[in-house]
Amino acid sequence: MEKKDLLYEGKAKILYLTEDPNLLVQVFKDDLSAFNGTKRGKFDGKGEVCNAIATYMFEYLENYHVPTHFVKKVSESEMVVKRLEMIPIEVVVRNVATATLAKTYNLEEGKVLKYPIVEYFLKDDRLGDPMINEHHAFAMGYATPEEMKMIGRIASKVNAIFKSFFDRRGLVLVDFKLEFGKHDKSLLIGDEISPDTCRIWDKKTNKKMDKDRFRYDMGGVDKVYRELYDRIVSAA
Ligand code: C5P
Repeated sequence: MEKKDLLYEGKAKILYLTEDPNLLVQVFKDDLSAFNGTKRGKFDGKGEVCNAIATYMFEYLENYHVPTHFVKKVSESEMVVKRLEMIPIEVVVRNVATATLAKTYNLEEGKVLKYPIVEYFLKDDRLGDPMINEHHAFAMGYATPEEMKMIGRIASKVNAIFKSFFDRRGLVLVDFKLEFGKHDKSLLIGDEISPDTCRIWDKKTNKKMDKDRFRYDMGGVDKVYRELYDRIVSAA
């Protein structure tokens, strides 16, 4: 599928229009960004590894009838996706206390939560992505009560699916972020699912296998992204 005009360039991906008004090409860049774009980096092959992981994850969700924007992988760093009208809310699901959650509520880092937590943040870098709840989302007109209910249900289902998926690969799904959008009135998962948007730890050693290695200058970010890909596909 041929790329036409640039629609949107984000920190780690670019969206292009195509000859089909319903479809876009999503290109994964080699760039890494953290802390609302204030920290930047890159490594060669990052776009390819994230595209490969996101493709695997979206295809896996398809088997469980979870609706996503993914259509097909078309090159090493590109996938075709359905065009969405995005809902500007970041949906975070947490299984283990870490980072802001551990700090805010004075929880022990690495504590397994008794029940997963679903959180919502308004996607707005200038405001620092403030946390909101469903009521803010309805009141400010970002989504209807029915949409928020469906978003919460899908996010919990994705968590259940991927928690056991990673567990079978000797990994712990600590937390992750999803974004949603509308296509022909149906609600679909958009954006990507990759080590840029998830926290994943090795079950035995607690080694961090995700973007925290870049955020906190732990080194070896390129190596762990590739190792993660190998572990994801090896247990298929
Ligand atoms: O920073 P925080 O602890 O809220 O992040 C929770 C999860 O959501 C992490 O896996 C992180 O990678 C992801 N996230 C993201 N994009 C953001 C904020 C968080 O992918 N803008």
